[in-house]
Amino acid sequence: RKVALLFGGASVEHAVSIQSARSVFRAIDPERYTVLPVAIARDGTWLSPEASWALLRGAAVPAAGPAGGPKTDPPASPGFPPGPPWRAVGSPHLNAADVAFPLLHGPMGEDGTVQGYLELLGIPYVGSGVLASAVGMDKATMKRLFALEGLPQVRYLVFERRAVQADPDAVARTVEEAFPYPVFVKPANSGSSLGISRADDRSTLVRALREAARYDATVLVEEGLAVRELEVAVLGNEPPEASVVGEVVPRRAFYDYEAKYTAGGAELLVPAPIDGALAEEIRALALRAYRAIGARDLARVDFFLDKGAGRLYVNEINTMPGFTDRSMYPRLWAASGLAYPALIDRLVEEALR
Ligand code: ADP
Ligand code: DAL
Ligand code: MG
Repeated sequence: RKVALLFGGASVEHAVSIQSARSVFRAIDPERYTVLPVAIARDGTWLSPEASWALLRGAAVPAAGPAGGPKTDPPASPGFPPGPPWRAVGSPHLNAADVAFPLLHGPMGEDGTVQGYLELLGIPYVGSGVLASAVGMDKATMKRLFALEGLPQVRYLVFERRAVQADPDAVARTVEEAFPYPVFVKPANSGSSLGISRADDRSTLVRALREAARYDATVLVEEGLAVRELEVAVLGNEPPEASVVGEVVPRRAFYDYEAKYTAGGAELLVPAPIDGALAEEIRALALRAYRAIGARDLARVDFFLDKGAGRLYVNEINTMPGFTDRSMYPRLWAASGLAYPALIDRLVEEALR
């Protein structure tokens, strides 16, 4: 089978996506699949087959920024894609493929945009469709659907960028009336913790609000809890299955970009040291979260376990979870008895079903 591997992307998670694609490329069975790489540059341009091969095989990742900046390998400090208009969409590799694997993280890739393009082209692809991808990317909409499904979530408020920019102190006062510090401030659309900060007082909250508003037009503020972080991988359809539960133990103040992608930044415990009943509860909630947004083929569902009260909360769903060498999704399936190459087989099968 010919598999078009889409990676890179006009997203703050560009560099992470390249690491994911390289990791899948190393794991995929070359006897069974012909890989056709399709790289998307940070500015949204779709690269040629030759340039895509070079990037997949390890060429340095162009750094972000208007001046181009120094050439660095991921995880380089992320930068903003310059924004539309996007140019040169499409690839001869895509047109030759039997199936596409859009291994893109973040906006302009994990959010339904590329999925819609693949729908229009009539190319089967791995992962959620347009709607579930868009919902999974937007934390405000995701939380609303989770609430309708009755899933437990931490307390949160949603603000428009306009309000943040017009009067951040007024926004901060609204937050202070709703719940105590610390709080977490997040852009609704981002990923890999980019644009997220913890605030412990008014001045850090105002700074955090402004920072999150750089990333997206909608900003969330959540009650910050002292938590253990538990993650489950979901795979397939009719019915989807849940993996063993894993735990992330960040070596930093929280599970930020550095903790996620720097060696030693976080410890991944697979399986998580939790009792069987709790693991079952988490797996059942993960499947409900997956169905609540209408996800397909794969997703990783992340949980918080409040260290104080012992309560469990659904944090988020990722419809195209990281596949880097240090990522949880493939590790959870390996620990559940499905090795990396077999996992790729399953994903491609589901896409073609
Ligand atoms: P992303 O989609 O970028 O992964 P998350 O919502 O998962 O964003 O937040 C990133 C990290 O920030 C979490 O893994 C956790 O370490 C920390 N965090 C986020 N929200 C909270 C919260 N309400 N309480 C405690 N920690 C949080
Ligand atoms: N957004 C990153 C890739 C993840 O969820 O794993
Ligand atoms: Mg997360």
